[in-house]
Amino acid sequence: MQSEIIQKTETQIINVESADPEKHLEYAALLAAPAHCLKNGGLVAFPTETVYGLGADALNEAAAGKIYAAKGRPSDNPLIVHIADIAAMEELAYVNEQARLLAEAFWPGPLTIVLPKREIVPYQTTGGLDTVAIRMPAHPAALELIRQSGVYVAAPSANISGRPSPTKAAHVIEDMSGRIEYIIDGGAVGIGIESTIIDLTGEIPAVLRPGYVTKEMLEQIVGRVVLDPALENPTEGIRPKAPGMKYTHYAPQGELTLVELCDDTRRRIQDSRERGKQEGGLPETESEEVRELQQPVILRICSLADEKRQAGYRVGIMASKETLTAYAGHADVVIGVGDRSAFCTVAAGLYAALRDFDTAGVDYIYAESFYGDGLGYAVMNRLLKAAGQRVIYV
Ligand code: TXA
Ligand code: MG
Repeated sequence: MQSEIIQKTETQIINVESADPEKHLEYAALLAAPAHCLKNGGLVAFPTETVYGLGADALNEAAAGKIYAAKGRPSDNPLIVHIADIAAMEELAYVNEQARLLAEAFWPGPLTIVLPKREIVPYQTTGGLDTVAIRMPAHPAALELIRQSGVYVAAPSANISGRPSPTKAAHVIEDMSGRIEYIIDGGAVGIGIESTIIDLTGEIPAVLRPGYVTKEMLEQIVGRVVLDPALENPTEGIRPKAPGMKYTHYAPQGELTLVELCDDTRRRIQDSRERGKQEGGLPETESEEVRELQQPVILRICSLADEKRQAGYRVGIMASKETLTAYAGHADVVIGVGDRSAFCTVAAGLYAALRDFDTAGVDYIYAESFYGDGLGYAVMNRLLKAAGQRVIYV
């Protein structure tokens, strides 16, 4: 096993959550030791606005190689290089006008740009590809660490390969303790799912991984943008352009199944609600309205869960805040992942919920679906992967 060949390292945890980046000298002093460690080829996990990253010097082959070992990551899966100022992009890649415009519009922020690499970027970092993925993160600890170390920082998400990405330092500690030198604790991340990846090496810019920055937001800056065909047809065996997207990522230990309203049901419910409205019978609260709409989903999840529990299995249910109470008594664990009226809360809570199901040791997980545009699309991309594309329509 990978973990047995890794030399045991003592991991130091540095808390910057309550430190004030405005007090620059103090803030910088906190990060001096991990920055020094990065410069010398060590591994440091740090918070970003999306998920925690596991960093190493991107231009040092041996250092980048350590990342693969610590994560148990396949070596054909390239790393994202993190920079602290836009100009650094020109040193790493052959930059075009679209990249400059996108960087100006979204950096620092949750967008990763793929460009043809320059020679200084080792193949160890790019997983053997002639392209490199670059991002300037929007987190004061990440930016300070990169600046102070004086190196560009290759960083995948700081989880063991195949586990959900870490959204709190506790997740990183769970996966990486004893494998890396430092973990910087910046508290819970803001966004909760990984950056949007856009490939600018083809004729038309292509989204390889959806995220907080949506296709529509990108199109406002560079015109037409397409989705990687592998995103649109995940079950048809099309090879995704981002090598990492082919793995069953984010998989919880229990078997996860999504339950979703089919278009017909949704239409029928809407019609009957219209009629209800005309007759003056409206739900009292927004939560009541959501529960009413989700009723067929709730009923199916309850009956699936009951069936498994009767057969002696442990069951988890992933609900929304609004529907949480409807599942009482039907599962060993029920988690309200977020609020349907604010999709950002679902993104922020998703990976922690998947980890909590692992901790609870459930055999089966039934989850409500969170279809929608924008961030909803990115959330569903992760959830469907976690579920191995298993969906029941009601
Ligand atoms: O939000 C994020 O992007 C986080 C934080 C830490 O910045 N990082 C992250 O890294 O999610 P990781 O390694 O978990 O995911 C990187 C993805 C993988 O799917 C990888 O295949 C893809 O980016 N990727 C990296 N370089 C690429 C390249 N040159 N061409 C295509 N895809 C690339
Ligand atoms: Mg990852």
